[in-house]
Amino acid sequence: MLNIIILAAGLGKRMQSDLPKVLHPIAGKPMLAHVLETARALSPDRIVVVVGHGAERVQASFADADVAFALQQPQQGTGHAVMQALPHLVEGDSDDACLVLYGDVPLVQAETLRELLRARGAGLALLTETLADPTGYGRIVRDADGRVARIVEHKDASATERAITEVNTGILAAPTAALRRWLARIDNRNAQGEYYLTDIVGLAVRDGVPVAHAQPAASWETLGVNSRMQQAQLERIWQGEQARRLLEQGVTLADPARFDLRGELICGRDVFIDVGCVFEGRVRLADGVRIGPHCVLRDADMGEGTQVEAFTHVQGARAGAGARIGPYARLRPGADVGPEAHVGNFVELKKTTLGRGSKANHLSYLGDAVIGDQVNIGAGTITCNYDGVNKFQTVIEDGAFIGSDTQLVAPVRVGRGATLGAGTTLTRDAPAGELTLSRSKQMSVPGWKRPVRKS
Ligand code: UD1
Ligand code: CA
Repeated sequence: MLNIIILAAGLGKRMQSDLPKVLHPIAGKPMLAHVLETARALSPDRIVVVVGHGAERVQASFADADVAFALQQPQQGTGHAVMQALPHLVEGDSDDACLVLYGDVPLVQAETLRELLRARGAGLALLTETLADPTGYGRIVRDADGRVARIVEHKDASATERAITEVNTGILAAPTAALRRWLARIDNRNAQGEYYLTDIVGLAVRDGVPVAHAQPAASWETLGVNSRMQQAQLERIWQGEQARRLLEQGVTLADPARFDLRGELICGRDVFIDVGCVFEGRVRLADGVRIGPHCVLRDADMGEGTQVEAFTHVQGARAGAGARIGPYARLRPGADVGPEAHVGNFVELKKTTLGRGSKANHLSYLGDAVIGDQVNIGAGTITCNYDGVNKFQTVIEDGAFIGSDTQLVAPVRVGRGATLGAGTTLTRDAPAGELTLSRSKQMSVPGWKRPVRKS
């Protein structure tokens, strides 16, 4: 059985924040959520998150998750933290392993952890790295035969030990039963007065348990976040990584360094994404979709060959094949733009279906509307869908022509092929095929003179 313990009790003082550190996001998602997702990829039998600082907020953020929480109060070191998780661990046979991860080391990849678990065999395995500057890290001390003997923390290390460049990343996998035994034997007689998880290494060696090690596939996987600066650095690393994956899949990114994905982006073939776009939630771009510069798309589905022009904002909306959206368009939840339809600048759609080939090219608000095929919506058209209390629907049937500056006071229906004259305030249904307009009669006053300034 596999147990995964995630340490997340630390304060994160250098973040200078009221938000518990592990709730700070990378790519729009709390760091702890990244670690949980990676943990789940290993199909563990139990996940235990050790919480301390901001425990209530951390727990509340993952209340519906498949995890057990252990409270560590006060924080007396990483060994002490793991001890708090012990009552939650599940045990079956001697193969049982326990993997220790960190809520503030969000980018470790499942494949690296699988490699660590493979390396473990039936013993202890450490994820280690060799760093040019090992300052601050626990050092891997080896015996004369080159076998791992123990870990010494930087603060406890001698000058010779500090010269060691092989460091402990903190991530390790241990036999569950042995972990319990070893933790019962560690003490806090060290430079920091803490119970060090790393002390189990020396105990494993004394018990004759083999100590293996593995390296992360990429060095950024084990970077931790202690400050806003490190958070920003990890954000860029992760965005670069996501950009790289999309490029490998055949997506064109005008500049991979100016691309932000905070969720999931599924792309077809020959998709082009210009600079400065932000993708959130779950976004699907079908074959040949082109996204112009500085667009924001959240939970969106764009059909084949659709073009989204600069500065467009899409949330909870979809478009059929060959649609054109923007520049400066806003598709809000429930907007459904039909194939070949056009939504132009400063047009807002909410809970509105725009049929095939229909056009709303300029300055309009279309809310709670069902608009048929081949409809032309003139500039400045507004669906008056709200009376201050309730929302009402507007229906515009196929082939209708809505003149500019028209208000459709819902509920109201425009019949098939009807024409509304410019400036109409429609309060009753407009019959199919006919011209409807509401307009005060135009008049001219003969001989009228402009007022003149009194002397
Ligand atoms: C630890 C390792 C060190 C390793 C380094 C890698 C120990 C004793 N040392 O160092 O060998 O090189 O990580 O970064 O394990 N935490 C708790 N409760 C505690 C203490 C820590 O939950 O009482 C959590 C922290 O929130 C953090 C993680 O454990 O996520 C590591 O703690 P930190 O103090 O950063 O590690 P170090 O002791 O510096
Ligand atoms: Ca008007």
